[in-house]
Amino acid sequence: MNSLSFLGRSGNLISVTLAGQGQPLVLLHGFPLDHRQWQAQLSGLAEHFRVIAPDLRGFGKSTLTEQAYSLADLADDVEQVRLHLVDAGPIALCGLSMGGYVAFEYWRRYSRNLSALVLTNTKPDADDATAKANRRTMIGEAERAGSWSVVSGLIGKQLTKHHVEQRGAIYHSVQQMMKECTVDGVRGALRAMAERADFTAALPSLTTPTLVIAGEEDPITPAAATRMWSAMLPNAACHVVAESAHLTPLEQPQHFNSLVREFLSSQ
Ligand code: MLT
Repeated sequence: MNSLSFLGRSGNLISVTLAGQGQPLVLLHGFPLDHRQWQAQLSGLAEHFRVIAPDLRGFGKSTLTEQAYSLADLADDVEQVRLHLVDAGPIALCGLSMGGYVAFEYWRRYSRNLSALVLTNTKPDADDATAKANRRTMIGEAERAGSWSVVSGLIGKQLTKHHVEQRGAIYHSVQQMMKECTVDGVRGALRAMAERADFTAALPSLTTPTLVIAGEEDPITPAAATRMWSAMLPNAACHVVAESAHLTPLEQPQHFNSLVREFLSSQ
């Protein structure tokens, strides 16, 4: 496994962690995390794929120079990762939650460069008025009291009760990523997510082979809703993973990795 960074067109440094050889698989993390949420995929999928895990703007080691950006800008960053590391070929793209929102944007802008999609613990719809207002409150709270006061409350929804009570390695790794978040990073992502487009109407035209994964105990992107929207995709299969909340790749890495491996190998 190794990491590198390069200067993106936006003027931000884009940091990427890489492992393995083979078909390129780009992994986009959720909020408020970074590439380390994919630790079990960087090790467990590297035997079969070239696993590429960028830090999105303002998270991990990727910088954030501007006040505001959109999820389409993040999709442009992903395209720069592809051009920088993969040359001419297409990528398989896997996004979790916020990373899934970026994957939808990537599909809209760059579907010609996409061989397959994995959408995990995510949803195609935009924020409603209540969700937008909630994001504004979170931004205000982060500016007043720091990012930890906003993001620390999320851990109880992201992990199963079992993982929260156990306080083991997974809990501590998620907590560490959250503790390292900056106010700028949190503000930028909350703003971009509040303004994101709604992809629900576009689902029937998303013909890229797609694997959708949900956590059976996910309170943020529930399995029942995931089954419903994924049924609108013409070329997709949906799997619900037991004993998992919102961070299925971290909580059930073996099950998650075998689903991804089988899906991508069959393309
Ligand atoms: C995430 O895990 O990325 C977040 O739950 C996304 C969101 O806040 O909508």
